[in-house]
Amino acid sequence: MTENGPDLVPGTGRAGQRKEFTREGPLRVGIVGTGGIAGSHAENLSRLDGRARIVGACDIDPERVDAFRTKWDVPVGASSIDELLDSVELDIVHLCSPPGLHKQQAVVALRRGIHVLSEKPPALSLAELDEIADAERAGGAQFATVSQHRFGSRAQWLRERVIDGALGRPLTAVCNTLWYRPDSYFDLPWRGNWDLEGGGPTMGHGIHQMDILLSILGPWEQVVAVAARQARPVATEDLTHAIVTLRNGAVVSVVNSVLSPRETSYLRFDFEYATVELEHLYGYSDASWRITAAPGHEDRVAEAWAWGPTGTESSHAAQFAAIADALEHGTPIPVALDQARVTLELIAGIYASAFTGARVSAGDIGPQSPFYRSMAGTGAPWNDGAGDE
Ligand SMILES: NC(=O)c1ccc[n+]([C@@H]2O[C@H](COP(=O)([O-])OP(=O)(O)OC[C@H]3O[C@@H](n4cnc5c(N)ncnc54)[C@H](O)[C@@H]3O)[C@@H](O)[C@H]2O)c1
Repeated sequence: MTENGPDLVPGTGRAGQRKEFTREGPLRVGIVGTGGIAGSHAENLSRLDGRARIVGACDIDPERVDAFRTKWDVPVGASSIDELLDSVELDIVHLCSPPGLHKQQAVVALRRGIHVLSEKPPALSLAELDEIADAERAGGAQFATVSQHRFGSRAQWLRERVIDGALGRPLTAVCNTLWYRPDSYFDLPWRGNWDLEGGGPTMGHGIHQMDILLSILGPWEQVVAVAARQARPVATEDLTHAIVTLRNGAVVSVVNSVLSPRETSYLRFDFEYATVELEHLYGYSDASWRITAAPGHEDRVAEAWAWGPTGTESSHAAQFAAIADALEHGTPIPVALDQARVTLELIAGIYASAFTGARVSAGDIGPQSPFYRSMAGTGAPWNDGAGDE
């Protein structure tokens, strides 16, 4: 629970108390995959004042896991998640492996009753996420996904203002992930293909901004979208544009690109009484936000802006601290699976609309839909109707 009460904790979609974490000592963390993002997990865990400790790590690359263990003083190393779980007692595993492995590794850990925090995307498809949900129910442990940008102070502030209505009704929003990735970025074998990464910038990059948007303004209802492969050597898209109608009636324009030399992550929320903007790239502070009052509403907006949480930057550390809090208090660890599913379903909806030309509604993509098992669904037009080329 935060100081503001349980309803406002970002991403704790499930109601009810969980078993409290009663064991003495720091949370025992295992890292699966010791590549690029694993270092960021280690660094951010080290900022938790001793509340968590990495006690084991695994990677299929022995040199990488050895280097990681030396740098972060990790007692146990292994070459697979099974070996890791057999070798050391863990409270939670952080999946820092390529996206195509998240489902399988999450199921292994959950079946053994170990909590899972998966890097984004949590799974390659809605079908995979539903399999994880089954394992979560069966094993009694919890699955959460990394969405570190939900946890900065101003995102929390805005989430609260949507609930209390201080800025009036949300009318429209902009959600742009305009990033640049050169061709060489796609040299890593898991990048840029449907089977290993699950999609292009809609799945791998824009997921962050879309997740902040939905965590603030609430669930989506309908989407129409266009996807293109303009320039990158990939089987997936390198660009999508979507118009999304939210359940509260707000209409949002979304762009996901890895083609944009002046990079920016830009979210803009137009309410009846104010515009709120966030401009950053890979993380924000309070200074990344600004507010503009509608004529005649300056005092009300200034008063709202002056109140509430400040000072927490969006970061893995902020999410890890929220997870440690949740485990101590017996509340769901954020970002819970059902919350992550809303975002993953929007991503599936964008692909489904772009590849079929249809307007897609939330709830349309069930087991009968080709887009349930793969984001490629019926196939991107540039793949000639197939998955990866
Ligand atoms: N939240 C964020 O801001 C953020 C940023 C970057 C990456 N990510 C995500 O983190 C994940 C990893 O990305 P990365 O850039 O670190 O990739 P990476 O390729 O640098 O690292 C992945 C590591 O996993 C290892 N691995 C492969 N198969 C394995 C297996 N079966 N068992 C254990 N380890 C295995 C690889 O050897 C490699 O060391 C991806 O899902 C990515 O989308 C998130």
